[in-house]
Amino acid sequence: MNFFNVYQQAFESALEDFNQDKSPQNLYQPIEYLLDLGGKRIRPFMTLMAAEAYGATFEKAMGAAMAVEVFHNFTLMHDDIMDKATLRRGKTTVHEKWDVNTAILSGDAMLIKAFQFLETYPNDIFQQLTRLLSKTAIEVCEGQQYDIDFETRPNTSEEEYIEMIRLKTAVLVGCALKMGAIIGKASERDQQAIYYFGIQLGLAFQLQDDYLDTFGDQDTFGKKIGGDILMEKKTILYHLALKTASESQRKILQSLLGGNIQMDEEEKIIKVKALFDETAAPTATRDLIQHHSHLADIELEKLTINEDQKNHFRDLKSWLINRNY
Ligand code: IPE
Ligand code: IPE
Ligand code: MG
Ligand code: MG
Ligand code: MG
Repeated sequence: MNFFNVYQQAFESALEDFNQDKSPQNLYQPIEYLLDLGGKRIRPFMTLMAAEAYGATFEKAMGAAMAVEVFHNFTLMHDDIMDKATLRRGKTTVHEKWDVNTAILSGDAMLIKAFQFLETYPNDIFQQLTRLLSKTAIEVCEGQQYDIDFETRPNTSEEEYIEMIRLKTAVLVGCALKMGAIIGKASERDQQAIYYFGIQLGLAFQLQDDYLDTFGDQDTFGKKIGGDILMEKKTILYHLALKTASESQRKILQSLLGGNIQMDEEEKIIKVKALFDETAAPTATRDLIQHHSHLADIELEKLTINEDQKNHFRDLKSWLINRNY
């Protein structure tokens, strides 16, 4: 994906302008630290791609791309506090390197900065972008709250789980794409179709994240493997494992993720992982990712952009669902 290199350079230089020395340092340094750790930058690149697909220059979409990436990094900074995560992008998380108060306030500042990036757009576009981002932001909060609630709720369904990840992850992917389409002055129908393409892609993306959290390689993935198990998250692996588990496997799995087992952390990870393997949950997860990928294809077909542009989105999708980081 050659066009990615062009986006990469332009985006990193916009980020450099944003990260100019500012005071107080204790507010801005953690922001710069997290943003400089990199990441895949998939959301801002989606905004740039969508704008170009509808005939705008990608430069015109840079403000929205920055808004989306800074917003995403705000969610990560706070998510790592909530998930007690020590590693992010292979480095120490902000609340561990500094402290929780720092991560709260620097995160808050990023949320506000994200909205400020939209102020550069003309009034009509500004209004559409702001409405979309604020709707998305409140949905992400709802998703994050369900995610936390589900840690201690033993009987959530797979449907509730999918709705939770739609909110915490997929809506921002949809938002990133739709922002590009808004800047490119796409029709309402196209805006809606690209948004739903993003929802399906975002669901597949979060399912892959759940898979990698247990079955990935820590050095490549950059997060602690087994982190979800230690937080007793009932991820997709858990829901799909239960579908084929025997009565005794189900009982063991539910008690391992049920809040009242005292066990060495590494031992717990090994036991849960073994149960997932025995119940073929990893294979079932791959199948579900393919299902959402197919639903994404259906939305993509509805877009009134040319085949070349569609192929860019197809390439991006297959990269995202086959990634190992
Ligand atoms: C991590 O997102 C949070 C999820 C929604 C799974 P990414 O995997 O896009 O994180 P970075 O930005 O590339 O580090
Ligand atoms: C990501 O959920 C959702 C948001 C950050 C809003 P995760 O908790 O699975 O993300 P990672 O795995 O820590 O990146
Ligand atoms: Mg989380
Ligand atoms: Mg997390
Ligand atoms: Mg995760």
